[in-house]
Amino acid sequence: MRKVMVAKTAGFCFGVRRAVEKVYEQVKEGKHPIYTYGPIIHNETVVEDLEKKGVQVIQTRHELEELTEGTVVIRSHGVEKEIYDRILQKNLNLIDATCPYVKKIHKIVERESQKGSKIVIIGNPEHPEVQGIKGWSKTPVTVIESEEEAEKFQHSGENQICIVSQTTFNYNKFNKLVEIISKKRYDIIVLNTICSATEERQTEAGKIAAQADCMIVIGGKHSSNTQKLFEICKKECENTYYIQTLDDLDATSLPSMGCVGITAGASTPNNIIEEVQKKCQI
Ligand code: F3S
Repeated sequence: MRKVMVAKTAGFCFGVRRAVEKVYEQVKEGKHPIYTYGPIIHNETVVEDLEKKGVQVIQTRHELEELTEGTVVIRSHGVEKEIYDRILQKNLNLIDATCPYVKKIHKIVERESQKGSKIVIIGNPEHPEVQGIKGWSKTPVTVIESEEEAEKFQHSGENQICIVSQTTFNYNKFNKLVEIISKKRYDIIVLNTICSATEERQTEAGKIAAQADCMIVIGGKHSSNTQKLFEICKKECENTYYIQTLDDLDATSLPSMGCVGITAGASTPNNIIEEVQKKCQI
């Protein structure tokens, strides 16, 4: 008999699941038209399915300006305060699916900048989550992503520096960058706002792979978090396969005995994980 172990943390994290569910709820309630501000998730199948159900993606501020009615869903990454305000000013129906962990950072940044602190975000300046966080500060923000940028960082004011992090930033790298900034002897408060969902998914994947005879990692080709999962699993289990959907699974390569482990990247919907699980159980 073949045993199949599916990681509990496989697939959507709590924030993304909540956001996707909120959009489907709107569809179910028959709301029309529905827009998401940016794709709700980096998964084409889900976005296409929603499109078929009448949910359109708006990509830019300009497109938002052109809307005259309907519901706008803010995805889990969150947005700048200005976008919130604009949606409300335009009398559109706002559904806020910002992940509560990201929302918490918005609140910190708003509060601390109001008190006069200088805000520093450790993260990727191009990432929509970071751009959103930036937009809650009342004062100019510095985004630091590399050691070089941390070394170069200078603060001329007397005020305190408040450091927060992008939720998906690497923990060790965050510590390293904070250490570099701390050496400058400014008055600093550090709030580690990294979300543990990614780390938990990786730890569990490694544990399962260590016990499995064959490991399957499901996720998009370009998904960096899935690639990372694959690397972790491959280290523990030589027989690790990277698949995007059930079609990529070669059932003949599965061992007839022993244990098959399954995990999935952050944008993989549950139904794909279940399909793969079923196939492995046959
Ligand atoms: Fe997901 Fe929210 Fe964490 S979107 S990765 S649970 S910050």
